[in-house]
Amino acid sequence: MTLDQINSLPLDQLNPADPQHFMDGTELAVFDRLRREDPVHRSHSPVPGMDSYWSVTRYEDIMHVDTNPAIYSSEPAITLMDFPKGDEQQLKMFIAMDPPKHDEQRKAVAPIVAPTNLVNWQDLIRERTGKVLDSLPRNETFDWVDKVSIELTTYMLATLFDFPLEDRRLLPYWSDVATSLKATNPNALEPQERMAELKKMLGYFTRLWNERVNAPPRTDLISMLAHGPATRNMGPMEFMGNLILLIVGGNDTTRNSMTSGVLALSQNPEEMAKLRANPALIDSMVPEIIRWQTPLAYMRRTALVDTELGGKQIKKGEKLAMWYISGNRDEAAIPEPYRFIIDRARPRQHLSFGFGIHRCVGNRLAELQLKILWEEILKRFPKIEVVDEPTRVFSSFVRGFSRLDVRLPS
Ligand code: HEM
Repeated sequence: MTLDQINSLPLDQLNPADPQHFMDGTELAVFDRLRREDPVHRSHSPVPGMDSYWSVTRYEDIMHVDTNPAIYSSEPAITLMDFPKGDEQQLKMFIAMDPPKHDEQRKAVAPIVAPTNLVNWQDLIRERTGKVLDSLPRNETFDWVDKVSIELTTYMLATLFDFPLEDRRLLPYWSDVATSLKATNPNALEPQERMAELKKMLGYFTRLWNERVNAPPRTDLISMLAHGPATRNMGPMEFMGNLILLIVGGNDTTRNSMTSGVLALSQNPEEMAKLRANPALIDSMVPEIIRWQTPLAYMRRTALVDTELGGKQIKKGEKLAMWYISGNRDEAAIPEPYRFIIDRARPRQHLSFGFGIHRCVGNRLAELQLKILWEEILKRFPKIEVVDEPTRVFSSFVRGFSRLDVRLPS
């Protein structure tokens, strides 16, 4: 759909969750129109299982929904798709739970990425980042997504799980399988094949769990889940759900921020010049990259009661998408939201990590990985040339890139 079509379509025909907008790079135009003309908007999706849903597009309304879990539930799911009865519905993960169970399970894993623990990760992250950057080809075109973003986030996940390094590429593979649904992505696996692959993941992790449950507690995520009072008795589908949460949570999001930083700086050479002149700006640039990209475009909530939002009557049981990507471009909350500015006065005033009880557990870890990446890039490469348009991911949930061709001139 062209920009003209987006702006002239009758409002009730706008379907912001159509992944094609994200593929075409027109999604921001859809949200601009909704924020202006119908900030709490009802759409009907032709995708079976998605049906009708509300889009919450203004910063303040998103904050309201995200911080009122007694009105807006995270159950049964945090994406707009409702699954038919069966295996998929059994998948339980704490991002899609309400208190008190959510709070108990979150407590079991949160310590691994607590600020005090992050200090322990720093040297390892720096060493691995340096190795990956040193192995990149010079003066020839290569895919930054594959060689840098996927490689680094995969190393990090393998470290958090204490997962065998030689098998680490299974992690992004499983993440892709988990996030690609046939109903919204024609290239995805058939539902039975998808579940079969996820069960292989469960089998692999169950072996690691069994090794660790009988050993003294350690500081990797599997050991923490196996020994945590709120998680040690999880059934297989709940274990699988939480694995998917941790793999997806730590994977696509940081990966796409690693790619989008390169893109944003290439499109804004004056910001790159500022950064080279003052590398200390990395600290404020990292949250700006995360705002600018918004790697998870939305989170879903479901109304627990009849309520009112932005003048609209929301009925109990109706679905809402909190479009973080739209809130992050809302000029009522963020000055000059369309500009990529690496020295913003309040760079952390964005919605990309959500707010309230589900606010991203891994936010500081993600920021640390990006900070170290940019420190190591500046030490090594005088220039990163983007040689082609990026290829975008076909999804309205994960907002990111599957390919970005670059060249490092020596
Ligand atoms: C730039 C990188 C990242 C972004 C943009 C991001 C974004 C988000 C968002 C939007 C939420 C839901 C917030 C809400 O519903 O209010 C979330 C939750 C979560 N994230 Fe992240 N995330 C990132 C990195 C990570 C990393 C590195 C990890 C772990 C290793 C992680 C683990 C989680 C977990 C476990 C939750 C569920 C929290 C809960 O339900 O209490 N994330 N993240």
